Amino acid sequence: MSKVLDPIEEKVYKIYGDVVGSGRPVRDPSTAVKLLEERYKLVVSETMVSIVYAAFMNGRPVLFEGPPGTGKTEIGEALLELWAGKKPFILPCSETYDEYKVIGDFHPVMAMKKGFNEESFIPRPLLAALILDTGVLVDEIRRSSEEFQNMLLDVIDKRRIVVPELRRVFRARGPGFQMIFTSNPEDIAQNELSDAFLRRVVRVRFDYPPRSVEERILKLRVNGEPVLGDSVRGLILEAVRRLREAGITHKPGTAEAVAWGRMAQSIARLRGRTFVALEDLAEAAMSVLAKRVDDEEVVAEVLKEVLGVEVLQG
Ligand SMILES: Nc1ncnc2c1ncn2[C@@H]1O[C@H](COP(=O)(O)OP(=O)(O)OP(=O)(O)O)[C@@H](O)[C@H]1O
Ligand SMILES: [Mg+2]
Repeated sequence: MSKVLDPIEEKVYKIYGDVVGSGRPVRDPSTAVKLLEERYKLVVSETMVSIVYAAFMNGRPVLFEGPPGTGKTEIGEALLELWAGKKPFILPCSETYDEYKVIGDFHPVMAMKKGFNEESFIPRPLLAALILDTGVLVDEIRRSSEEFQNMLLDVIDKRRIVVPELRRVFRARGPGFQMIFTSNPEDIAQNELSDAFLRRVVRVRFDYPPRSVEERILKLRVNGEPVLGDSVRGLILEAVRRLREAGITHKPGTAEAVAWGRMAQSIARLRGRTFVALEDLAEAAMSVLAKRVDDEEVVAEVLKEVLGVEVLQG
């Protein structure tokens, strides 16, 4: 006898099934570390992977907290995908996020005609993730309201979603349904995370990586021709380190180190060079590193010291 598919499940598979896909979960931390590097070009320690996996085994959500551009979003997304063997859903938070946007909503015209029932119900990512047994990355959780955070915790605590209008309770199917939150506590105009929230999560602190790790990341992410040689790479590493200590508002993350290397590489390519010259690096510098008017002077000063040449704006 063939199984009759639940109408909500059917909708979820139809809308999201292909996007989420289905592969083999990777639950061994050392294999995950290798794949993170080879497949995702991410340098992640085995300790970090083990903590995240241990949290998942205990049904706990994970909070990635740290400065901008340190890999929180990309690492979160990749780890959820490896753990579940399926693509995760990403929820980029804002104040206006609520259960209608993440669990489900009703089509207004159809609901008027046919009522608030399964036919007029439109499933959204959080419910879809639970049904498809995959992860959810809740990006920039501090931008969401406290009610929203509490709603998510309730879902994770009980591993179920209630939709009162349908008089239905959906339950998690397997261990693939997990959550990672990202947050940058230094970002201005954001909400505090409540004690109730913090009590439940496993917190992983992100920071600017040590020089040797940032060097590996640059080698992994800025490769090919025009070649970024060791000495030019060394200048990038030194300049971003100094800028982080210089007390500027917009500190460069690893993201900016990579962006700077790539911009310099493109400038070198436009000039028909096969290697990145100091000149290319200097030319790209201000546009990538000075993001606020207040920072311009200090950034230019630090860059001049490290690169040994004058840098110009635009
Ligand atoms: N560990 C890492 N391995 C490889 N690349 C990294 C790593 N950390 C940072 N990067 C670089 O930084 C970029 C941005 O990372 P990501 O957007 O995940 O950072 P984030 O911490 O979420 O930043 P934000 O707080 O601005 O959202 C990546 O595309 C990559 O170039
Ligand atoms: Mg991010």
